[in-house]
Amino acid sequence: MEYPITRLRRLRSSEPMRSLVRETSLDPSAFIYPLFICPGEGVRNEIGSMPGIFNLSVDEALREAETAASLGIGGLLLFGLPETKDDEGAGAWADDGIVQRALREFKKSAALKKLLLIADVCLCEYTSHGHCGMVRKQGDSYEIENDSSVRLIARTALSLATAGADIVAPSDMMDGRVAAIRDELDEEGMEQTPVLSYASKFASAFYGPFREAADSAPQFGDRRSYQMDGGNLREAMREIELDLTEGADMILMKPAMPYLDVIRAARERFDVPIGAYQVSGEYSMLHAAFAKGWLEPQRAMMESLISIRRAGAGFIVTYFARDAAKVLG
Ligand code: PBG
Repeated sequence: MEYPITRLRRLRSSEPMRSLVRETSLDPSAFIYPLFICPGEGVRNEIGSMPGIFNLSVDEALREAETAASLGIGGLLLFGLPETKDDEGAGAWADDGIVQRALREFKKSAALKKLLLIADVCLCEYTSHGHCGMVRKQGDSYEIENDSSVRLIARTALSLATAGADIVAPSDMMDGRVAAIRDELDEEGMEQTPVLSYASKFASAFYGPFREAADSAPQFGDRRSYQMDGGNLREAMREIELDLTEGADMILMKPAMPYLDVIRAARERFDVPIGAYQVSGEYSMLHAAFAKGWLEPQRAMMESLISIRRAGAGFIVTYFARDAAKVLG
């Protein structure tokens, strides 16, 4: 019998051996944990479709943030549920807006010094119609206006940076918003605040549970006139290229698992920090299978995160941040 010269199994024989040759690793400092901030005090409402994820009032969010910091998590991504909504989404850039208030509170806490506070910049949680921009109705049809939306989005970014956001992350997908945000920040002395743009964001069914969490479902129509079509990889590269030209410091790609090839393509093409967002539906889908006993929770969670890293994401926005950091801790 001929023996194989190369036996790949030799390096799989024990955990120390596997650990030595493992090509991809995870670290809590590269996790970003999303938080949904709501009005009130002592509020901690679990989101039906996202077990373990809550709408939190500022005081409760502070506690959650301190736990995240103690686990070595790199940062938070903040979303807001305002008390009232209107056509323009004025709550998004209000001085005393819900996320602005949370940012000011968080900045007072010594325990959060090492936690990056990233503010999601969008209008959809604040508009009564639930779209990410201004709506112009024409009879039965409607249009999401680009340029008027961009002005309000830039204003929102400035308001959040002023309130203490370390990074602003526009997620609206309007054309030209990165340049407008950069301009607004530079003009107002916030030239050191980085822009993390959701550069390639697909119109995805996997955002469904988030819209329950953030109460941001569009009241009519859908987001396909601004978010990208799921079949397009080359267009994603153009989106990234444009955002970088406009001054984005880092890019975020979402969803993650259904678009790992797009993340890989971006990693090979652009020498900038790339993050991926493992979105709400990815989390809910796994949790549904955990609840059924169909998947092993810890292993499936860690495997999902490793796959996103291996595809090329340097950091991961994930609702599993806490759970995964505990496993790694
Ligand atoms: C706001 C925004 C959305 C998500 C992040 N920012 C919702 C959307 O575009 O409908 C989705 C995140 C998730 O599903 O976890 N525009």
